[in-house]
Amino acid sequence: MRSVVASSHSEACLWAAQLVGRAVRDKPACALGLAAGETPRLMYAELVRMHRESGLSFAQATAFALDEYVGVAPADPASFSFFLHRNLLGQVDFAPHNIYLIDALTRDVNAECARYERQIAACGGIDLLILGLGQNGHIGFNEPGTSFVQGVHRVGLTQATIAANARHFADPSQVPRFAISLGIRNILEAKKILLLVSGKNKSEVLRLALCGSVDPRVPASVLQTHPDVTLVADHEAASLL
Ligand code: F6R
Repeated sequence: MRSVVASSHSEACLWAAQLVGRAVRDKPACALGLAAGETPRLMYAELVRMHRESGLSFAQATAFALDEYVGVAPADPASFSFFLHRNLLGQVDFAPHNIYLIDALTRDVNAECARYERQIAACGGIDLLILGLGQNGHIGFNEPGTSFVQGVHRVGLTQATIAANARHFADPSQVPRFAISLGIRNILEAKKILLLVSGKNKSEVLRLALCGSVDPRVPASVLQTHPDVTLVADHEAASLL
């Protein structure tokens, strides 16, 4: 695993955006897997800036959302689809037919998972997957205790994740209990992974993930088994490494 430790969250996001920009320039028709959440927000802002000011083009690239809440409409500001549209997809030049989001309003979650899995395969897999890290060690919505061999699947969110995400909902009681997420198998199948982590509150779990044993109780620890992971962390998140 390669590591970049930046002096601040914003510097980490600039580094991460450089890495993504390089991947897109090297392979314009690349498939990107995209995390939502607070951590990558500035990275996406920098990619938008690079698009507007430095000619970085996503016109041939493909985007896959990493996960989505079940039952939350794409027009709902709390949905990950909304987040990705507002922060990246709607701000740069992705072709609409190359944007793949999870249909969280589906009546048949299993069929939706299978459809999404087929779409990833049909695109030849994900070239660069951008991940954040949950305080409980989740990646995507693969919560502690997750299977390492699962593909796209429905997840029951833990109380810790529900509490952490309540801030995105006007009414905290409205935080969904379920999500659809790429599974650990899909994550490991990505050709390259960028793990972006910021903040003191992630330092202990980052240490467990990278320095502890590979253990489903810390889902991110599975990244130790992937051949091409780059960690970009601010110094607070990396302080216990
Ligand atoms: C988001 C996702 C989650 C987040 C993680 C960290 O698509 O899959 O794993 O990356 O919960 O969230 P933030 O960045 O909000 O701390």
